[in-house]
Amino acid sequence: MCGIFAYLNYDVNRDRRYILQVLFNGLRRLEYRGYDSAGISIDCSSVAGAGPVQPPLVFRQEGNIESLVKSVYQEVSATDLNLEESFSVHAGIAHTRWATHGEPSPRNSHPQSSGAENDFLVVHNGVITNYEVLKQSLLRHGYTFESETDTEVIPKLAKFVFDKAIEGGDQSVTFCEVVLEVMRHLEGAYALIFKSRHYPNELIACKRGSPLLLGVKEFAEEQNNGTSYNDMNFISKNGHPKELFLSSDPHALVEHTKKVLVIEDSEVVDIKDGGVTILKFDHGKGKDGKSLSRPASVQRALSILEMEVEQISKGKYEHYMQKEIHEQPESLTTTMRGRLIRGGSSKKKSVLLGGLKDHLKTIRRSRRIVFIGCGTSYNAALAARPVLEELCGIPVMMEIASDLLDRQAPVYRDDTILFVSQSGETADTLNALEYALENGALCVGITNTVGSSIARNTHCGVHINAGSEIGVASTKAYTSQIVVMAMVALAIGADTISTKQRREGIIESLLSLPGKIKEVLKLDQEMKDLARSLISEQSLLMFGRGYNYATALEGALKVKEVALMHSEGILAGEMKHGPLALVDENLPIVVIATRDQCFSKQQSVIQQLKARKGRLIVMCTEGDAAAVCGGSCRVIEVPQVVDCLQPVVNIVPLQLLAYHLTVLRGYNVDQPRNLAKSVTTE
Ligand code: F6R
Repeated sequence: MCGIFAYLNYDVNRDRRYILQVLFNGLRRLEYRGYDSAGISIDCSSVAGAGPVQPPLVFRQEGNIESLVKSVYQEVSATDLNLEESFSVHAGIAHTRWATHGEPSPRNSHPQSSGAENDFLVVHNGVITNYEVLKQSLLRHGYTFESETDTEVIPKLAKFVFDKAIEGGDQSVTFCEVVLEVMRHLEGAYALIFKSRHYPNELIACKRGSPLLLGVKEFAEEQNNGTSYNDMNFISKNGHPKELFLSSDPHALVEHTKKVLVIEDSEVVDIKDGGVTILKFDHGKGKDGKSLSRPASVQRALSILEMEVEQISKGKYEHYMQKEIHEQPESLTTTMRGRLIRGGSSKKKSVLLGGLKDHLKTIRRSRRIVFIGCGTSYNAALAARPVLEELCGIPVMMEIASDLLDRQAPVYRDDTILFVSQSGETADTLNALEYALENGALCVGITNTVGSSIARNTHCGVHINAGSEIGVASTKAYTSQIVVMAMVALAIGADTISTKQRREGIIESLLSLPGKIKEVLKLDQEMKDLARSLISEQSLLMFGRGYNYATALEGALKVKEVALMHSEGILAGEMKHGPLALVDENLPIVVIATRDQCFSKQQSVIQQLKARKGRLIVMCTEGDAAAVCGGSCRVIEVPQVVDCLQPVVNIVPLQLLAYHLTVLRGYNVDQPRNLAKSVTTE
């Protein structure tokens, strides 16, 4: 949800064309976070400190990154701006937007500016909740606003602070001091990067609630062995050139460097003269009720990104969603790698989850287990709920993060709360985490993103290790989440003798799961044909129950979010209580009726739908076609696995169906209308 990126180079050989390319590529990698509009700012002049500093150049464009690229080159060719001009230092910032305040348009795009001279420029991911108050106050001081964004108050406030300091005789006010003062006034969530005409070659970034990483490239290796970096001059001893990057996520960094610093809340990063200073400040009020305590400097070691560039490219596939659906045999293998133990003299089968092992006793003593998530992550938790209830013998509650907060639902000290999130940055889930921490619950993170806010702020957790998921519609993360939560159930229930056989059966089935997914992926063409038959439908219902109620919800979510077709997942047990009224010979209905303890109930649902001439597409276990609908409806036959893992298999044909429907209907699979990956605003 909005991507911010910055590039600072100290390499005399980098010309303006190269700098533009780095910024555009950074934005391309972040585009999945928002694609309504985009913008960049680059330096106008290559000579710092000589003569009056030229205001930075700003380019903003509605539409996706390619529209911005086109418009920048058009504008450049219409001026005498020299693309071959080299820079010994250059500080560029960039933004790709998912609109929250104000429609997508150049004036609402970022960088947002303090005014005509671009004294201060800001790119922002997040939402400033008190922007109206700040705006009113700035209006009273004579400022005028050109955009409808919440962000515009930030550069204007920076200019106000700067001008006031200068007028007050403080000619030496630093960029960092200006930003710290601005931060004191901001409420809400943000990751910000500031650029200023008054401080050429310097960038300041800060964050609170939204993610931000600093990438460091090419400095002496001897400085990188576990050392902490602060006030450190990154110009290496042997004079290597270096480049520094700021980014909302690692995808834009990995092609440049794997060395990163994860910036934490309330930290300010000052990048200047090849050095990086990180300050942390307290949001509380100082003794005078206004000022804040002096920011303290922070020492932190660089982390190494475990990500390869190939992971974030489409490879042989046309779309990320397609690639991610087809890589599920591998992603599930990685999710389980090293975690399923089978062997020893007793041939004992068990689960080892390093991130949880020290907390299992506490979890087993919990009064409740509560799942919290949003969208697909919530659905994955719902799919795993029955096996947790079965193996742990503890009540398991389901909470959609925003709803829990709206209700301020009770959370107890003896609750274990599992926060499920692919990105680990979803604002609703993060807010729910804050709430649960305040209430003293044990908080467990289940995320796909190492170093994400949820991973860092929970007491313990398990990474799903599904690899980067770039398609906005979550696919491989969903199946890996279910598998991880099944493993969590196995680990919590590991000391119960009565369920030993059942647990071993599940572990066996987990081990065979990647192979079964390979089999089910062979339905690709069949799902394309089915999609073709549904291409002009207005609506598609999906009925499931038990383990596969979640499959119905998730299948419907995929269809609606990418194929832009109304689709609803319905609990089959509720059919007679309302939804049956919709059934006629025209409305297509997918009924999930694979073998489990609900099978006979689903058979009678099928009979009742057929009695009303329902247009059925039945998903059944291989070999069951005749048994489920006597050859009178369309069937999707899927391989059988243990009941509690069947949702992992069953969702795959529905992912394929959603994918093909989208392509056939001519929509953008990877960038569905109005959506963005990683919803970092409430
Ligand atoms: C749907 C989808 C969303 C996310 C939801 C939560 O395909 O991707 O519904 O599942 O926004 O995101 P995470 O899992 O990152 O917390």
